[in-house]
Amino acid sequence: MTTLGRPRVHHRLADSTNERAKELAVAGAPHGTLVTAAEQSAGRGRQGRSWVAPPGRAVLMSLVVRELGEHSPMLPLAAAVAVCEACEAATSVSCEIKWPNDVWIEGRKVSGILVEGRPQDGWAVLGIGLNVATAADEFPEDLREIATSLAAAADDAPDSPEAVLPLLLAALERRLGDPPTEVVAAWRARDALRGRSVRWTDGSGTAAGISDAGSLVVETDAGEVELGAGEVHLLR
Ligand code: BTN
Repeated sequence: MTTLGRPRVHHRLADSTNERAKELAVAGAPHGTLVTAAEQSAGRGRQGRSWVAPPGRAVLMSLVVRELGEHSPMLPLAAAVAVCEACEAATSVSCEIKWPNDVWIEGRKVSGILVEGRPQDGWAVLGIGLNVATAADEFPEDLREIATSLAAAADDAPDSPEAVLPLLLAALERRLGDPPTEVVAAWRARDALRGRSVRWTDGSGTAAGISDAGSLVVETDAGEVELGAGEVHLLR
């Protein structure tokens, strides 16, 4: 029985579950406190982007995590591995991870993760958006080529985010407590970029896996570089 997900606050409509969870964390909510929503009016993604999902079709959750110690730097990577495992437990899909923590099915994004926190106060909020029941034609036009859902990817997908949530919490429980070496090994086994041409703001090269600390290693004409944060794009 997982200890994550209790207490749980569910909103029919929230601005952003990450915002609500941060508020609870500041007020002292315990490790494992879960905020979910059927719909968000101001869902946030990484790099200042927004996150949109039709009502009732996606897992929209934020978890308060405390005192992770040596596990803390691995939280975004461990969460991505857990999302993959939950999707594969829920239905017949295979998931890969695009560094650092986008979860892909057949090259399309099914889930995104936004970790926000105050390490100095010993807490972080782990926000996960996972498209479960969104039909292909429900994605906004500009996302149709790059986004997917469990339902769009597999015939046997559950029709409700609530069916996936317990699988996700159980996978998170396992992975958040894993030693960093195990998280990195599990992540490497799902690396979607390895061997592929990538570009980022300051350069381009061939993705060569992740370091033991979780940075993206890229081989460039000038030698190997490690990217610790930011965004990379596939060239082809
Ligand atoms: C990304 O891929 O850019 C990260 C997306 C994270 C979206 C989730 S949905 C639940 C939680 N609340 C938010 O406002 N964002 C995260």
